[in-house]
Order: sequence, then C-alpha cells, then structure tokens
Amino acid sequence: MPSSPDIQKSFHLTTFGCQMNEHDSERMKGMLHSLGYSEAPEREQADLILFNTCSIRETADSRFVAHLGQAKRLKREDPERVIGVGGCWAQSVKDEVFERFPFVDVAFGPGQVHKLAEFLTSDSLSAQGYFEFEGFTGSLPAHRERPFQGWLQISVGCNCRCSYCIVPSTRGREVSRPFADLVAEARSMAADGVKEITLLGQNVNSYGRDLRAEGGPRSFAELLRAVDEVEGIERIRYTSPHPKDMREDVIRAHAELPSLCEHIHLPLQSGSSRILKAMRRTYDRERYLDRVALIREHVPDVALSTDIIVGFPGETEADFQETLEVAEQVGYDSAFTFIFSPRRGTEAAEMTAEAVPHPEKVRRLEALVQVIQRHAQERAARFVGRTVEVLVEGPSRTDPEKLRGRTRHNKVVNFAGLAAPGEMALVEIASATSQTLAGEETLLARAGG
Ligand code: 5AD
Ligand code: SF4
Repeated sequence: MPSSPDIQKSFHLTTFGCQMNEHDSERMKGMLHSLGYSEAPEREQADLILFNTCSIRETADSRFVAHLGQAKRLKREDPERVIGVGGCWAQSVKDEVFERFPFVDVAFGPGQVHKLAEFLTSDSLSAQGYFEFEGFTGSLPAHRERPFQGWLQISVGCNCRCSYCIVPSTRGREVSRPFADLVAEARSMAADGVKEITLLGQNVNSYGRDLRAEGGPRSFAELLRAVDEVEGIERIRYTSPHPKDMREDVIRAHAELPSLCEHIHLPLQSGSSRILKAMRRTYDRERYLDRVALIREHVPDVALSTDIIVGFPGETEADFQETLEVAEQVGYDSAFTFIFSPRRGTEAAEMTAEAVPHPEKVRRLEALVQVIQRHAQERAARFVGRTVEVLVEGPSRTDPEKLRGRTRHNKVVNFAGLAAPGEMALVEIASATSQTLAGEETLLARAGG
C-alpha cells in the first residue's frame, strides 16, 4: 500500500529503450533520492509509478502499453498514487497523452527530466506535460546501477534526418555539452570509483561542432584524448557513432589511447547504396567499407558491431543480397538486426506503396541472422587460448558459482574466479559461442592492480 505523507514516499521506475534512456533513468533515480524518495522493489508498493519510454520500434510501444495497463489498475485502486510517463514515446504522443490516458498525472519528454522534480514539489499534482527541448539530464545527480561503470552524456538530440527514425522528433536538434564540463565530470566520476566510462550521444562523433563559447568548435577525438588522460578511468567506450562522421583521428585514437576499448559499433542499416540513399544515411556502401578498412588497418584486432534494418520500403531482393554481401565482407563480431516498422511522423512511414510484405521481411531477417551468427561464432573463436582482461560485473546469470564480466572487445565472459565486482581479472578463455566466452581466472597476476 502507498504510504501516508509522514512516511517516506517511494517510487518504481521501469525503463525501455536505448542506453540514453538507461542513462536518463539513472538521473531520474538520483533526483528522486535527493527529493527523499526511496526505491520500491515492486510497482504495487510505490507511491510514484514512473515509466521511461521508447518509441523506436513497434515492439517497444506495445510492450510498454501492457505495463501501462497495470499502472491504470493500480491508480484505480488508490487514486493518491502518481503515474508519470517520460521519454520518447511520451514525447511522440504529447498532444494526446492526457486524453488517451487520463490516469497519467505527469508526462515529460527526454529533454525534460529535470521538470519531474518541479512537478513533484509543486502544490497541485494535476495533469501536467513538459515537452520542450532544453537541458541535459547529464547535469543531474546520478544513481549508478554499478558504481564502477558510468555514462557520460556528451550531447543530446540529433541533426540527422534518417527517414525511418523517430529520434530527431523526440530528442530535438543536437546540442553538445561544454568540453570543460565533460572533463570535470569524468574526473569526478573517477573520484567516485568509476573505471569504465561510456560516452553517450545520438551521434557521438559529430560532438563539439556547435560549441562556440569556449573558443571554437571541439572534436570528438579531442574529447577522447582528454578523458583518456583522467587518472582512474581504465576503459572508455562510446555509442553510437555515425559512419558519415567517422574520421581518421577517432580511428587512430583507438590505436593510441590506452583506455579506449577495441570495439566500435558502426551502424550499417543497409548494404545497398540505393536503400541507404532512401534512408538519407548520406554514405554509400563503398564509403562504409572504406571506413571499415581504415579501422582494420589501424586496429587489426578490433571488434565491430552494427545495426541493420531489413524490409525498408522499396528494398528488393537484390538490395537485400547487397546487405548480406556487406555482412559477409565485414564479418561482424555481433549485430542488432531489425525489421523495418513505420514510425509516426517519419518520412519512411509515408512510403506505404513500396512496403515489403511482412512474411518477406521475416524471411530476410532470418537469412541475415544466420550470416551474422556464423561470423560472430568465428570471430569469438579467435579468443580461445588467449588471456584477456575482464571487468567483473557480478555473478554469472547462468551459474551463480561463476563470475560474469566484459572484455575490452565487449564480449561477455562467464568464468571461475575469485575477483570482486569492479575488479579487473585476467581470464584464460577456454571456449566461445557466438554470444559469450567462458574460461578461468588466472590468479598469478591480477590485471590493473
Ligand atoms: N524500424 C526498424 N528499425 C529501426 N531502427 C530505428 N528506427 C527503426 C525503424 N523505424 C533501428 C536502427 C537503429 C537502431 C537503434 O534501431 O537500426 O540504429
Ligand atoms: Fe532511445 Fe530512440 Fe528509443 Fe528514444 S526512441 S529511447 S532515443 S532508442
């Protein structure tokens, strides 16, 4: 049951979607803790029920609506409860949210997380919506899931116009956070015990072009260098870069900076130049493959991952075969594969005449997944017999006797060992599947002290 006013209030937050949303949720939690709320283990026990939503694909929408149904029931049982909906889905239905879902008390877009505090501390808790694009959630206090891993939000929004994507309309124009603020935040994260930092942005490698106040634009490669110099930060990752902005300085940084991990997520989307054009990706197949060649030249052992969409409107069998060819040629370590789904208000949602029938989309997805899996398996096998550095995250999900962690190449490793969460362990790899590695900790020398 929800508590009376003299007892501490509690919240329950469910997060959908990408790492940017996970980041924003950590900030929401940090803010709620500072307002005196505690976290309830179950939704039923919370005074404040929150959702941080995603709208990137249909499945994300429909999963969320089922959860919202439960919140509606809980609100009916106890009208004192507050229901809040934030994030991209909320932004995309902003005009209708209170009409369609009258039990929702507060709705806010991804740029408005800080307004949640304003709402909760205001006198009247009547329906309110906040949907302007302003402010960085990155400047709010964080409540980290794991104290040794942290997100650093370097920019918000996106200036690309990919014809399938809802993000430019839910997260607005790109704005970079000031360089000096980011370096200061990286230092303070390191002082808090963070060893692994993930730089976050919708298009990380266009970072800094809009900065004027600090004496001119800054580049993403410069930012990587500055974070690498921060004492205590042992690993840097970033997500996601755009192939069109993947410059040699960033690629070289992977070879030169000790803390920058040997993993690059480079979204392909399609291997057909014709479809890439219709997607408004602004690179073609050759340019993408040229970036991959440059990456492999500087960082031969790099792990490459990607995002691919099948069944974009107008995609022919020949276009799809080109996607398979690129997947064969690159040999990804892993990939996220998606079936195209039209998103509200996007250009591709209007291309209904050229829609690919659903069963055909499914067939293409299955064929693509086979190629991806085969390469992932082959790529993972190269680690067998090697001793790799693993940042321990906790117990293994499949076998609680074992530990689980991640390599610099972003491979999950389940292993027998004694290291504690947050420590770097050296693990000798004995076997590999397309998804995970397995092995044993080498206790003679512990990595990273
Ligand atoms: N349909 C299918 N997949 C999509 N993605 C983005 N929008 C859509 C859509 N409308 C995929 C892209 C992107 C990833 C995060 O989600 O591959 O890189
Ligand atoms: Fe993240 Fe895009 Fe989903 Fe928004 S719509 S939560 S930016 S994946």
